[in-house]
Amino acid sequence: MQVVLASSNRGKIKEIRELLGTDVVPYQELLGDLDIIENGKSFKENAIIKAKTIYDALQNPSAIVIADDSGISVPALGGEPGIYSARYAKEGASDKDNLQKLINKLKEKEIKRTPAYYTAAIAIASKDGIFTVHGWMWGDVIDEARGDKGFGYDPMFIPQGYEKTLGELDSEIKRQISHRAKALKLAKIVLERLQ
Ligand code: IMP
Repeated sequence: MQVVLASSNRGKIKEIRELLGTDVVPYQELLGDLDIIENGKSFKENAIIKAKTIYDALQNPSAIVIADDSGISVPALGGEPGIYSARYAKEGASDKDNLQKLINKLKEKEIKRTPAYYTAAIAIASKDGIFTVHGWMWGDVIDEARGDKGFGYDPMFIPQGYEKTLGELDSEIKRQISHRAKALKLAKIVLERLQ
């Protein structure tokens, strides 16, 4: 089964390939660059927009498209950055800029460590319709970046039950406990039914 991935984020593509254990083709290899307007009000809505846009553009009814919309939420900051995680610093910002902005926000409020959680919403588009699943990972964010593993906000995120950030921990640990791993486990059940 060939699954088309509605993402161009390298960190995500790598993790989804490893976690799904099936051939995943990033949509850009088939369609080039597409302007996808992520104007949904939730991770789920944005995942559906991405999956549907790519599915329609492929014009291949037997295609299966998987889209992940994800981000980190910090309750002490009113849920920021949430669905704006990818463009927190500005439109088109780099992972590094976004990470630094969240660190600065914590520093402004003199917060050294506070609870946070990652959300992954996955939408699967196929001729049988659109299916969605979710996964979450709880932990704390700190006001500094430690380590260079993972991507995005990982260097400032300490998962529950650990004392190191995802930037410092072995990537095998993230593979076992991440929001994306949990959502993909459920997505696999859907994908098996669509084969
Ligand atoms: P999306 O590609 O629009 O879903 O944006 C996701 C953004 O959330 C990424 O650019 C990262 O900043 C952040 N993000 C999502 N998942 C992770 C993760 O597993 N680690 C670190 N950052 C993540």
